Amino acid sequence: MEHGAQPYRSVLYMPGSKPRALEKARSLPADAFILDLEDAVLPSEKPRARGLVADAIRSGGCRGRKLVVRINALDTEWGADDLAAIAPTGPDAILLPKVDRPTDILRAADLLASHSTPSATRLWVMIETPRAVLDAAAIAAAHPRLEGLVMGTNDLIKDLGAQQVPDRLPIQTSLALCVLSARAEGLVAIDGVYNRFQDLVGLRRQCLQARVFGFDGKTLIHPDQIVVANEVFAPSSDDITLAQAQLVAFDAAQARGEGVAVLNGRIVENLHVAMARRMLARAAAIAALETEPAPTPSALQGVSK
Ligand code: COA
Ligand code: MG
Repeated sequence: MEHGAQPYRSVLYMPGSKPRALEKARSLPADAFILDLEDAVLPSEKPRARGLVADAIRSGGCRGRKLVVRINALDTEWGADDLAAIAPTGPDAILLPKVDRPTDILRAADLLASHSTPSATRLWVMIETPRAVLDAAAIAAAHPRLEGLVMGTNDLIKDLGAQQVPDRLPIQTSLALCVLSARAEGLVAIDGVYNRFQDLVGLRRQCLQARVFGFDGKTLIHPDQIVVANEVFAPSSDDITLAQAQLVAFDAAQARGEGVAVLNGRIVENLHVAMARRMLARAAAIAALETEPAPTPSALQGVSK
């Protein structure tokens, strides 16, 4: 797959303490799953959830979808044990919450290295504290193992003393800094969750806003939200038709010895060609993901009810 084409339109949080939810990851059409050991799990449930999530990662079978595990922050009583238990199972990524500064990333990366973590297991971090937003560029550049930034909009709004409003005005600067920092380092950028999980109209509006900002996709809390995020963050058929026409027009212009084409009264330059190619690669990756075969019965074993 071309670099950057991996789809992350819909990234569903699943409570690590709920075997039923973890089992559902094998049939839900989200592009990625975050098996959560942090805020979705009660303190009394943390050790049991850790074991369930480790088993779920080992049993695999997620049809090309990415599996990410959110551990507890390393300065909590659970963080180091989470990392030690999960890292050797080789999820696609480990997501670190409550990061404040680049040294937090270095500490996590050192621990991953000391737990014989497979090299394919990458590090993702939550951008959810005021300090992390202000240091997002340095955080994104902190370590080569880093692959993704995930906005934690609820925690950020709490820490800011701001309010949840439909246009997200109080956090628009933070959203933009997250995308800027991710793009500066070639990382994935995923938006925060939409809390009213039954309000799919509001979710669509927020996904469209996130897409305008440049996010790759949205974190979700309920399976019903997947279809909306998948549609909004995917190139539409009109987008694909236009991209293909731009490539044809540009090739024809080049064959005539011209460096710029005109299509439907609009200019097509090198940068539009690069954007068109990237969009077509993303569309092809989505099509490939959506035609992955159904999970086999053996892939479902290993996660008890
Ligand atoms: N992942 C996987 N499956 C989920 C799910 C999730 N995040 N949320 C709900 N489901 C499943 C339920 O298990 C249920 O499955 P079943 O009918 O096969 O048993 C089905 O979807 C319908 O669930 P529903 O009754 O509509 O929701 P609920 O009232 O049980 O749960 C929430 C609502 C918000 C508590 C639940 O969606 C949830 O826990 N979400 C994740 C929260 C989270 O991870 N937060 C941390 C990050 S912000
Ligand atoms: Mg949080």
